[in-house]
Amino acid sequence: MGKLHSLILTVRLQGFAGVLRAVRTNIRSCNIMVLLRKEYDPADVQKVTVEEGFVMRRATREDIPAIAQSWPEEFKPKWHTESELWRTLNHHFDSDWPCFVTVHRDSRIYGAMWCRPWTYDSALAPAERGRSCYEISSLFTIPEARGKSMAARLILYAMEQLAHDGMKTAYSRIQPDRTPSLRTHEKIGFQRIGILTDGRIFGRFYCSLKRETQAAPV
Ligand SMILES: CC(C)(COP(=O)(O)OP(=O)(O)OC[C@H]1O[C@@H](n2cnc3c(N)ncnc32)[C@H](O)[C@@H]1OP(=O)(O)O)[C@@H](O)C(=O)NCCC(=O)NCCS
Repeated sequence: MGKLHSLILTVRLQGFAGVLRAVRTNIRSCNIMVLLRKEYDPADVQKVTVEEGFVMRRATREDIPAIAQSWPEEFKPKWHTESELWRTLNHHFDSDWPCFVTVHRDSRIYGAMWCRPWTYDSALAPAERGRSCYEISSLFTIPEARGKSMAARLILYAMEQLAHDGMKTAYSRIQPDRTPSLRTHEKIGFQRIGILTDGRIFGRFYCSLKRETQAAPV
């Protein structure tokens, strides 16, 4: 994406405040995340179950109002206004990032997640690059439904759906203090690869991976 296109997109999504944030981020920013990976396993299909009264399905743009209504507090500092959230959700759909939701029969969305393009190949070993893969993003379950494996089952459902399109590898980058999310991933077979650090210094993107000792490149 060109710099001009990126600037226009920022203005469209986040307005002037977003441009100021983007300038600050470009001058100096640093994200430190736990990187996890899971290969698609056809045997997981048996774990793709759903509680009575719910369905899991791919979301469409028509689901945006319900997704925005369920959007968790934990993500809110990222979106400074309700309209920013709506524009950003619209942008996810404009970008064709597959979105999956768990919906109750009363139409309320209990959980959601996106599968976005994976952009950190440069931090991986050469043999690991270029796979048909994606990154799990913005995974959430509404607070009153947590701890019932809803998020775990939604991830497995999404992996099952995308495997039909040839996507076999899922990555997740998780803040080290997000224990429930780490647990959700690890209990369904995601393995920690290491700590992925990325950011920008005066506009230049960098990323590096510090592997956990037992996680040798495959
Ligand atoms: C992370 C999140 C999606 C998990 O949703 P969920 O439907 O509760 O997930 P699951 O029930 O599949 O798994 C949660 C696991 O974390 C465990 N857990 C929850 N809080 C925990 C804590 N403070 N410490 C340790 N484990 C914890 C649960 O016990 C459960 O594990 P178990 O099944 O072995 O008991 C949900 O907590 C959430 O929406 N959080 C806010 C948004 C967020 O942080 N998203 C992740 C972005 S990377």
